[in-house]
Amino acid sequence: MVPQPCRRAVELGAGTGIQTRRLKAFADETLAVEPDANMRAAFTVDGAKLLVGTAEEIPVADGGADLVVACESWHWFAQPQATHEAARVLRQGGTLAVAWNLPETTDDWTKKFWWPVASAHDESRRPGRLILAADAPFHTPQYRVLRWTLRRHIDDLVALLGTYSRVLALEPLERKEFLDHQRSLVPVREDGIVDVRFTTICWRTVHKGA
Ligand SMILES: C[S@@+](CC[C@H](N)C(=O)[O-])C[C@H]1O[C@@H](n2cnc3c(N)ncnc32)[C@H](O)[C@@H]1O
Repeated sequence: MVPQPCRRAVELGAGTGIQTRRLKAFADETLAVEPDANMRAAFTVDGAKLLVGTAEEIPVADGGADLVVACESWHWFAQPQATHEAARVLRQGGTLAVAWNLPETTDDWTKKFWWPVASAHDESRRPGRLILAADAPFHTPQYRVLRWTLRRHIDDLVALLGTYSRVLALEPLERKEFLDHQRSLVPVREDGIVDVRFTTICWRTVHKGA
């Protein structure tokens, strides 16, 4: 996803910096943009510059970035503003890269367990799909899919489900009841460990100029 060489990388919705930590190894300068004060307070990545801003108003000058990247965050952005902003800060030939980690929902329990994740967004902003406006100055996006297994204790898996926005937004009591129910759906090994299949979808497209 990261072009080489990469003098300036701009990450949108950097959160606590989970991806920034890796990204900075591939870029001379890494600018991490994050609107939420609580997220910024938890951002501790040496060697990356943390900026207050949004994907719709990126606090970076025109045309200087080799990469604009968004991990687990593109579905939150207002469109087409964010796409146009990415185009503004990228140089011609620069890369827009977008990625999501999505749980696989191929069998009965995973369909029911991950339901809040799959249903949280409307069709036009569904995580996993990069749909750009027809007039956006980008070449046709390419994607690559990586499949992997998350091995977690059932307590951690249920806690992870609780971090998705649709579940977080429930009232505390409702959330507890919901998570207790979701826990009962999971086929757990005797030691409490569960293997869950995930898919990472990585998109990239190149700025074709005005
Ligand atoms: C699920 S977190 C992902 C954080 C990080 N990229 C990661 O992979 O761990 C989504 C992030 O997008 C941020 N976000 C939400 N709306 C945004 C917007 N309009 N512009 C920029 N960031 C936004 C949230 O504050 C949050 O930090």
